[in-house]
Amino acid sequence: MADFNSVIEEVRSRNDILDVIGGYVHLQKKGSAYFGLCPFHNEKTPSFSVTPSKQMYYCFGCQKGGNVFTFMQEYENMTFREALQALADRAGVELPENAYSAESKSRDDVRRKLLEVNRAAAIYYAYQLKSPQGINGRDYFRQRQLSDETILRFGLGYAGVTRDGLVRHLRSKGYDDRLITDAGLANFDERDGLHDRFWNRVMYPIQDGGGRVIGFGGRVLGEGEPKYLNTRETLVFDKGRNLYGLNLARSTRKDYFILCEGYMDVIAMHQAGFGNAVAGLGTAFTSGQATLVHRYVRKVLLAYDSDGAGTGAALKAISILRDMDMTVRVINMLPYKDPDEFIKNLGREEFEKRIEDAEDGFFFEIRMMERDYDIKDPGSRSDFTHALAGRLLVFEDEVRRENYLTAMAERYSIPREQLANAVRKKAETGEYRPRENPRSGMRNGSNDDPVLRNQRNLITWLADEPAIFDTVRKYVEPDDFSDPIYREVVTQMYKDMEGGRLNPAAIISTFTDQEDQSKAASLFNTVLVIDDDADMGMALHDLIYMVKKAAVEDRNNSDVIDEESIRRNINDKRALEELRRATIKI
Ligand code: CTP
Ligand code: MN
Repeated sequence: MADFNSVIEEVRSRNDILDVIGGYVHLQKKGSAYFGLCPFHNEKTPSFSVTPSKQMYYCFGCQKGGNVFTFMQEYENMTFREALQALADRAGVELPENAYSAESKSRDDVRRKLLEVNRAAAIYYAYQLKSPQGINGRDYFRQRQLSDETILRFGLGYAGVTRDGLVRHLRSKGYDDRLITDAGLANFDERDGLHDRFWNRVMYPIQDGGGRVIGFGGRVLGEGEPKYLNTRETLVFDKGRNLYGLNLARSTRKDYFILCEGYMDVIAMHQAGFGNAVAGLGTAFTSGQATLVHRYVRKVLLAYDSDGAGTGAALKAISILRDMDMTVRVINMLPYKDPDEFIKNLGREEFEKRIEDAEDGFFFEIRMMERDYDIKDPGSRSDFTHALAGRLLVFEDEVRRENYLTAMAERYSIPREQLANAVRKKAETGEYRPRENPRSGMRNGSNDDPVLRNQRNLITWLADEPAIFDTVRKYVEPDDFSDPIYREVVTQMYKDMEGGRLNPAAIISTFTDQEDQSKAASLFNTVLVIDDDADMGMALHDLIYMVKKAAVEDRNNSDVIDEESIRRNINDKRALEELRRATIKI
């Protein structure tokens, strides 16, 4: 496909971004970039930038960005293929016949194959559940009170105690080892060869919104560790952009979803008649998932575990969902731990009542915050009032803010005027920083994750200062980046830099999804904030160390426990220790 990539690159390089965007947006030079009013969101002061040296644009207001293709896709509402054609015409480049279809076909082919082998695996596991060997799995589901109909509807299955039952089955169906491994269904090690990833577990196939099996969650039978083992991320399994149960929930008529924590919660809820329940895939709720939910409903009821971890997770989900202007309410599950237990003990009607009584997301947040204060004590009470005032500023809409203000004043018996004054003061002193991304910048909702922030800063630094490449490469590998987009960008940057020339705009071209392009573009446009008097070498050292450390810890917590990962762990620890002692000079 080198052919196709070079065609894209040719078209891109023959369309100077300043010329193209200059035809749509009035731009003025400021330093090495050009600025204008962003065409993608409403603004009065220019925060939209075009940088000719990078051949990229980026809006600091709404965080949209990319190369010349991205711009055409976004502005003219074109597909990548249409943008390519338009820009080829503009520059008088002849596109070879079929160039595009060949590339997209091969990518589609891989995806199709992965989906096919996942489906075959799901059928195999479901069959195992019914077979004589499946007795443990059947017992387990019976004990959890699942009906046969539910088992069928969710395609539940069983992975037995064989070492390579699935591998042998899939081979006999003609799937090759490479595909089986790429789908995350089996692992290879020198002693055992290719062996099943899932073993002695009941299996929950995970389907995308269209009902295609993209991965699995497996729950151990008995007391093994880890309790749940999930498919690792693959080309078709993106944990941050799928939800368990969505394929069913999307076609219920309710105007809200019930967001749970676990697979079993979703299943129990559906069985009890709440077909609009969905859950994350073993990771914290992401803005990608919020975007997905937003396609179907504007209201979400949280049915998270009633323990501390569940409460923390609920608070995060509330803020992500609110940033997308969705209505959030929280279901009180007490005295039970999760929806599954609740339904089993109190049944459907009681749950129905809890839905009716669900608490407004903001009320919930403030109630949780209040626990940190003693509002009978005048000093602490003042602190609480100020904190509350700060929180009220999350509402950008004035009417909304006023309404919540009134409700809060009443609830906590604070004179309304007093609270209103405190809010005004907070707003004026600018003590409160408005959320980083307005509506349109949604995808960066994870901006606050310090691990991702460090990763992003390192990539940005590297892009700005290729001189640090040798140092960075010595300690950090593309795999150390947790976000798939970051990983891909770094892989390509390394390749570029080995060849001596970084080409950010070309890197952006490798992503066809606009959101992905913007995300990649943001890496090349973020402004690094480092104190003027900081020792740059030390700052870089700390950054590299933090990125490496997070990656090592992440691998350490991973649910794969095989020889390869143990060996990797030992190497990781050694590398980390060496890095800790190292001195970096730039
Ligand atoms: N999870 C995971 N890995 C673990 C534990 C949990 O991925 N080691 C994810 C799974 O998606 C699980 C969810 O977190 O469905 C909720 O975890 P937990 O509350 O422990 O699961 P329950 O659904 O309560 O598990 P069960 O009822 O099967 O004991
Ligand atoms: Mn449970």
